[in-house]
Amino acid sequence: MTEITMVTGAGGGIGAETGRLLAARGHAVALLDNQSSVHDVAADIKAAGGQAISVVLDVVDETAVEAAVQQTTHELGSVTGLVNCAATMTTGPITETALDDWNRVMAVNATGTFLTCKHVIRSFVATGTAGSIVNLSSISGWVGLPNQPAYCASKGAVVQLTRQIAAEFAQQGIRCNVVSPGSVRPISCVATWPRRAIPSLLRRRWSTGTRSDGSPLPPRSRRRSPSS
Ligand SMILES: NC(=O)c1ccc[n+]([C@@H]2O[C@H](COP(=O)([O-])OP(=O)(O)OC[C@H]3O[C@@H](n4cnc5c(N)ncnc54)[C@H](O)[C@@H]3O)[C@@H](O)[C@H]2O)c1
Repeated sequence: MTEITMVTGAGGGIGAETGRLLAARGHAVALLDNQSSVHDVAADIKAAGGQAISVVLDVVDETAVEAAVQQTTHELGSVTGLVNCAATMTTGPITETALDDWNRVMAVNATGTFLTCKHVIRSFVATGTAGSIVNLSSISGWVGLPNQPAYCASKGAVVQLTRQIAAEFAQQGIRCNVVSPGSVRPISCVATWPRRAIPSLLRRRWSTGTRSDGSPLPPRSRRRSPSS
């Protein structure tokens, strides 16, 4: 049976590569993004012999999300999987974060994930499909990082929504898992960071060199990498 997988944020970055990888492994993919670059990704996949459709939409538009699930079912078959990669972020201290920026990040990252999960799970249940959902959170969804109040909160919401869905639908064989990457490059999310600043940002974030009581960590711990 062919897997039919929807991928949001598939117009670039991790979402586009996920779409390409799934297609190379035989999935028919429905690629969703709010940028028209998603059509180019689908065209590449089709040129390589894969099966793909592409839809330009905003993941916070429930009508469009529901229509995309219907279109996928109509053109490719009943949906068996979903990967939620669409996301946005703002940076800056909470004291300088505009309400509009907070609302947009929460909407795209948390509400968008909720909406796609909602309509894909409806499809799973209606067709008796033991489908699989993978939601992209971030290290920022697990620990507090400076200057990312909305992003950290929204990615924490993605982690907890994933747990909730997994618990609620496990008995129907529907799986929901979260992936929480560290920094992956190339990435448009952090494209505004000065390239040479990234290593020092990571060192500052992940190795303060002190314990919570202020005493120095042993040298080995100070050298710990983000992925350790
Ligand atoms: N790249 C990293 O270092 C990193 C680290 C941790 C977590 N992540 C997470 O991985 C996922 C993919 O990250 P990425 O680096 O590929 O990001 P990216 O910015 O390259 O890609 C995100 C995609 O989402 C799309 N998008 C944004 N708002 C949308 C909306 N409202 N509706 C539909 N599409 C929308 C963008 O057009 C873009 O194509 C995100 O959830 C991100 O939070 C990335």
